[in-house]
Amino acid sequence: MKIDRVAVLGAGTMGHGIAQVCAAAGCTVRLQDISDDAVDRGLERIRGNLDQGVDRGKVTDEERATTLGNLTTTTSIADAVDGVDLVIEAAPESMEIKESIFRQVDAAAPAEAILASNTSSLSIAVIGAVVSNPERFIGMHFFNPVHIMALLEVVWGPDTSDETRDAAVDFGRRLGKEPIVVRDAPGFASSRLGIVLGMEAIRMVEQEVASPEDIDKAMELGYRHPMGPLKLTDLVGLDVRLGIAEYLHSTLGSEAFAPPALLRSMVAEGKLGKKSGQGFYRW
Ligand SMILES: NC(=O)c1ccc[n+]([C@@H]2O[C@H](COP(=O)([O-])OP(=O)(O)OC[C@H]3O[C@@H](n4cnc5c(N)ncnc54)[C@H](O)[C@@H]3O)[C@@H](O)[C@H]2O)c1
Repeated sequence: MKIDRVAVLGAGTMGHGIAQVCAAAGCTVRLQDISDDAVDRGLERIRGNLDQGVDRGKVTDEERATTLGNLTTTTSIADAVDGVDLVIEAAPESMEIKESIFRQVDAAAPAEAILASNTSSLSIAVIGAVVSNPERFIGMHFFNPVHIMALLEVVWGPDTSDETRDAAVDFGRRLGKEPIVVRDAPGFASSRLGIVLGMEAIRMVEQEVASPEDIDKAMELGYRHPMGPLKLTDLVGLDVRLGIAEYLHSTLGSEAFAPPALLRSMVAEGKLGKKSGQGFYRW
């Protein structure tokens, strides 16, 4: 499966970055969102990333120009997916929105195009059920910021074909990512492990085993994690992590995912981490 033309649906935090790395890898990319403002903001963020790359000597002027030259924008899903080899959806994390988008994609994209969702938690099998050929449906879970983070989780559902899975892995490598292949299970690989560590670290704060700083240092210096689980929770947002933990607790059933009382009370008090100025750290 040759992938040269890509549509990215949603130009927000993830979509703009996905469009950037695909364009930088030489694909022609159509970036779509629901308004001119949203696509313009996405394009502006790409320009900003590239300018910063040039300033830091990581991107040449020529690469910057080529990447921008490969990108066009639209507010129409039908225009975005017309004639493409791959569609990557990066719209809000709502089953309703994603199903509605993929119904439109199914009607307008070439029958052989690979259809991918960047969902961080929703079932690939359920979203893929709305397209006429779920064998070509797959999860491509990028990490934020997309142009910097190396990991790509390729999530294959029960109906995803081996060809689709292999094509997504190959394409991920072409983007300079390190793909891992994960079955369509709640939390995939990354959130499932990350949440267990995060919840246990919060339980350790609750039980006064050590200070947040020292718990984080245990992982940073003892296990070479670039950032401890409590600092990471502050950056992601305590409310966001609570939502994921509740979802994994209910779907996987293990008490390892049970949100600690301390997490619930901090969220109730508005201590949401970096975005609110206070979490396990003061920001
Ligand atoms: N933010 C992260 O760290 C992260 C990491 C991995 C995966 N994800 C997943 O990526 C997806 C997007 O997340 P995000 O953080 O970029 O969200 P975001 O809110 O920053 O961007 C979503 C964009 O989708 C647009 N949109 C809304 N309805 C649309 C529609 N019908 N068609 C096309 N675009 C539409 C919005 O206008 C917005 O620009 C979600 O599924 C999320 O779970 C997020």
